[in-house]
Amino acid sequence: MIKPDGVQRGLVGKVIQRIENVGFKVIGLKMITVTMAQAEEQYAIHKEKPFYEGLLEYITSGPVVAMVVEGKDTVKITRKIVGATNPADAEPGSIRGDYALEIGRNIIHAGDTPENAIVEYKIYFDESEFANYSKVDEEWLYE
Ligand code: RTP
Ligand code: MG
Repeated sequence: MIKPDGVQRGLVGKVIQRIENVGFKVIGLKMITVTMAQAEEQYAIHKEKPFYEGLLEYITSGPVVAMVVEGKDTVKITRKIVGATNPADAEPGSIRGDYALEIGRNIIHAGDTPENAIVEYKIYFDESEFANYSKVDEEWLYE
């Protein structure tokens, strides 16, 4: 999910480009404004954290771009492309390392396990909305 700061800063195209560059297949994509109820569901694991209220305010503060992608080792590789939670610790070349300065304005959210990725996409998508297609590069991406 490209968070509200990523949308406001005009980084939607750049972020999606990086996800596409490695070969992931985008199967779901939409701009939405996260409701408070959806935000509470997405970030339920952080309910007791001191930053929880601010996080809910941030993620609901404007439109986001929600995206579902498929590929090999998708969660592991996406987390590397996204970079460390705190942009100060994120490597140059990662999205957060290249485009963000603060942990509370870190451009993008990504599921942290395959199980959580499924739980999270169900908050924003019905599976019937996913595009079911083959991409022409698959034969050259996978051995
Ligand atoms: P995300 O869930 O957004 O993909 O980020 P993450 O896995 O890298 O980090 P996580 O620990 O799940 O934290 C969720 C989001 O909460 C904000 N945060 N603020 N002020 C703080 O100490 C703090 N810690 C976390 C960040 O926006 C982080 O992405
Ligand atoms: Mg997280």
